Amino acid sequence: MTKRLYIETVGCQMNMLDSELVVASLRKAGYSLVDTPQQADCILFNTCSVRQHAEDKIYSALGRLKNAKARDPHKIIGVLGCMAQKDQELIFKRAPFVDLIVGPGQLHQVPALLDDIAAGGGQRLEVSLDRKAGSRTEVEQSFESYDPLRDPAMRPTPFQAFVRIMIGCDKFCTYCIVPKVRGPEQSRPAAEIVAEVRQLAAEGCREITLLGQTVNSYRHAAADGTTNLAGLLRRLHEIEGIWRIKFITNYPRDMSQELLETVRDLSKCSQYLHVPAQSGSNAVLARMKRGYTVEQYREMHGRIRATLPAAGVTSDFIVGFCGETEDDFQQTVDLLRESRFKNSFIFKYSPREGTKSDELFPDDVPENVKRRRNNELLASQNAISEEDNQAFLERTVEVLVEGPSKAGMKQAADDPLVQLTGRTSCDRIVVFDGNRRQIGQILPLAIYDASAFTLFGTVVTRRAGPEVYELALASPPARVPVH
Ligand code: 5AD
Ligand code: SF4
Repeated sequence: MTKRLYIETVGCQMNMLDSELVVASLRKAGYSLVDTPQQADCILFNTCSVRQHAEDKIYSALGRLKNAKARDPHKIIGVLGCMAQKDQELIFKRAPFVDLIVGPGQLHQVPALLDDIAAGGGQRLEVSLDRKAGSRTEVEQSFESYDPLRDPAMRPTPFQAFVRIMIGCDKFCTYCIVPKVRGPEQSRPAAEIVAEVRQLAAEGCREITLLGQTVNSYRHAAADGTTNLAGLLRRLHEIEGIWRIKFITNYPRDMSQELLETVRDLSKCSQYLHVPAQSGSNAVLARMKRGYTVEQYREMHGRIRATLPAAGVTSDFIVGFCGETEDDFQQTVDLLRESRFKNSFIFKYSPREGTKSDELFPDDVPENVKRRRNNELLASQNAISEEDNQAFLERTVEVLVEGPSKAGMKQAADDPLVQLTGRTSCDRIVVFDGNRRQIGQILPLAIYDASAFTLFGTVVTRRAGPEVYELALASPPARVPVH
């Protein structure tokens, strides 16, 4: 009998990939996906711990399942991912009807654990070692990179895939829970990554996004030498069938000139760099232990602009970090304005138990001040995004067509004509009217309208004749004019 699985995922791209792989392994074990928890025999939450809000959402979703579990005790409820690693048994205490808790370094065990529970094995908890609970090697070994064989049917789109190149983080920014819940920084062997991407290409995948908490710190030593991210990109660039390569998230201090020049020189590398600044104040950066000054960030940003003038550069900021004054905040606004990021993710500081900032500094910026700073920074960013997007009007861009837009998803599935969405190499979203068969192709679009978040285009039919479709199937079009 097929078992019905419902999974809810919050958090970053790492979590999206983990969920995809867990679902793939459970499909192999006879599960099928359903759309609501009510229909499911097994309900899994893949969780995030980076801010309190993400955890609150999961605990209230769990609370809503209490009665359903009482009515149907055979329903299995599981909590996976970062919150599982962080809270461990506490989850059983707060939600005693939960059956399964699995940390991000133990996800390979999920199918067997579910079998045990279904066979009456009782509650199960599998997490990795705490960072101080053993030698570095022991702790490293307890966090396994979860990269089973890929299943194209599992991906959100068959021609795009995330590829993990590192797990964990060793930077220990004082506000961040990631080094604790995702363990020590470990790079996967380059040969393994290359083999995975080859397989993805053979399955029709055209765009890969390499994932790591500090992806540009990638470094793997093997018998034939050490590979850094630039070297890995050069190897991946040779794989036929792959058209675009992206990587997220970058750590400012490790943004080497070699890497920037490699992105410039390899036509398949997307001109898109996510390099979180977090703050524009040296006092705050020091308390965050980010490992750079704002002058060093500016220098790095200047090198990006000089080497890759057309690149889309994006950032993360935390407002209301411990001790952040109005003057500190203004320095952040100044940095955001002069850097002209394509977009920024802005977060209010959320103290996390187990981090250095929570231990050392009071969370002393009032919530209403955090909110105002958040809104102000967002308004500055949106004004920049809107202005910079206007520069695309009447230009032609090339997009990889991802699928129906939000409006397109509501259109009849049997109508070949549909509103589609695609992405430029610099990661700008373009919405246009097209044909479903164009999904997965690279198309030229003429831009006729632009908002802060979206460009609107029409297919340049002169260049999108059959020859382009053929080209698209065989190889990526030459990189003209890519923005
Ligand atoms: N509070 C608020 N934002 C945080 N981030 C990480 N930890 C916290 C925290 N404790 C943000 C950082 C990071 C992004 C993924 O989340 O900006 O880059
Ligand atoms: Fe967290 Fe800093 Fe590591 Fe990013 S680099 S995951 S912010 S500790």
